[in-house]
Order: sequence, then structure tokens, then C-alpha cells
Amino acid sequence: MLEVQHLTKVYPDGTVALKDVSFSVQEGEFLVVIGLSGAGKSTLLRCINRLIEPTEGKIIWNGVDVTKADPKSLRRIRRDFGMIFQQFNLVQRLSVQMNVLAGRLGYVSPAMSLLYRFNEEDYQMAEEALRKVGLLEMAYKRARELSGGQQQRVGIARALMQQPKVILADEPVASLDPVLAHSILGYLERLNKEEGITVICSLHYLDLVQRYASRVIGLRGGQLVYEGSREDIRRMTDAQFKEVYGEEAERIAPPSLLGGTKDA
Ligand SMILES: Nc1ncnc2c1ncn2[C@@H]1O[C@H](COP(=O)(O)OP(=O)(O)OP(=O)(O)O)[C@@H](O)[C@H]1O
Ligand SMILES: [Mg+2]
Repeated sequence: MLEVQHLTKVYPDGTVALKDVSFSVQEGEFLVVIGLSGAGKSTLLRCINRLIEPTEGKIIWNGVDVTKADPKSLRRIRRDFGMIFQQFNLVQRLSVQMNVLAGRLGYVSPAMSLLYRFNEEDYQMAEEALRKVGLLEMAYKRARELSGGQQQRVGIARALMQQPKVILADEPVASLDPVLAHSILGYLERLNKEEGITVICSLHYLDLVQRYASRVIGLRGGQLVYEGSREDIRRMTDAQFKEVYGEEAERIAPPSLLGGTKDA
């Protein structure tokens, strides 16, 4: 479904962030990208929908070469990819509902959503998206009044407004505690399992990787150095994980928490 072929990204200052990275993603996967800080995870996720322009290589999405797409087809392609960010990227002074509605506009700046007239269908979609992340009762609060975990759920609801086929999540739980991390990943897992949305997600903690990933790829210095199935990851020891990932990798939660909790 998604093919990344020989992807290389060199930033204008000469930094080689990705070097000849190739892998494919099948529909319905929960692919986790691991790697040290600076390994190229964010660059990779953003190259997929060309928020960052790849220097070399191809991204093939359902047979279409994203790297060659003209602005109009690129806009259409980007709708298939919902994004979730570590820092949530909500407009703090706007209501939860307005932040979610902004997702309907794709990549228009959320502030512009104030000028835009949404129709009844948009409002119904926003309601449905908020229901899916358990935040319907928060619709009229301002984003800044919400906790971190709740804000990230708004981020998920906003991404859902695009009716994405893939969710690209760049360290979606890095600023949350372990319980909230499980809650957020639990929502992503449900969307993955129940709605068939493919998830490509970077994560830092072995527990979380083992609990949620259906497959893992590891980057080191911009190169693909590891690829493993769910079973491979289950068998992985902390030591092996750190070999791919570096000493930053940690376990965060006792096994009792690994079932996840949904009520954050
Ligand atoms: N705009 C930029 N200009 C130049 N170099 C950049 C730019 N963005 C990222 N880099 C560099 O590219 C490399 C990969 O960065 P990237 O942000 O993709 O890593 P990452 O794996 O997401 O790291 P982290 O875990 O800290 O988020 C790093 O060396 C980084 O310094
Ligand atoms: Mg990053």
C-alpha cells in the first residue's frame, strides 16, 4: 500500500537525516518507528506526505508516486494521511470543537477555520470524532483548559476529520505519563483494529513498542538498521533494543499496566 524506496533526505545545511531508507507498509499495520534522538524519525514521517521534501527516492502510495505529485494531487494525497504530533499543536484559545473542525480543512491553518463556514455535515463529523475519543462533553471548552492526555485525544479527533487511511503519529505520547501514554495508544489501537486505519508511529519505550506494534523498523543515523515482526519484538531483550536504539531506550511501566487503560 505504501512503499518507501531509497529515501534520502539531506537538509540545506548538509545534514544527512535519511540515507537510502526502503520499506513497505501494508494496510492495517501498526508500524512503529524507533531510533535515538536525531535518528531521522520525524524526518521520515514528514517525508511520507511531503511536509518535508525528500532529496532522493520515491514514496509510492497506492501506486501513485507522491514525490512526483503536482500540488493538486498532493493535496488529495495528503488527506489520506492524518497527523498527530508530540506537542498536540492545538490552537489553545479556540474551542475543542473548533480545533477538531479545523481538521476538515486539511492543511489550512487552524486560525483560518474561524473564517470558514462549516456545514451541518462537518459538525456531525466533529461530534462523531469527539465521541470516538470520549470527549464529546468537552466540545465547548477551550483547548487550553484540557489536560495533556485530553489535548492529544483532540489531536486524534482532528486527524479523524480527514477520514484518513493512515495516521502518522510523531512521538504522540512523549509528553505524557505512562498511564496516559497507554490511554492514547489505546485509542490509536482501536482506530487501527476497528476502522482499519493504518498507523505509523514513532515511540520511545520498549514496553509500548511491544504492546502496540505489529511491526517495527529501527533507524540509526538516518539508516534503516532493524526490521522486526510482532514476534521478533516480543522476544527482544532490553539489551537488544538498546543496541538498535541506544541507551535512551527505557522501560517505563510495570507489566500490570501493559493492558492499557482507557479512562485518562
Ligand atoms: N530543518 C533541519 N535542518 C537541518 N537539519 C535538520 C533539520 N531537521 C532535522 N535536522 C537534523 O536531521 C537529523 C534527523 O532529525 P529528526 O528530527 O528527523 O530526528 P528524530 O529521530 O525525529 O529525533 P527526535 O527523537 O529528537 O525527535 C538530526 O541530525 C537533526 O539535527
Ligand atoms: Mg523527532
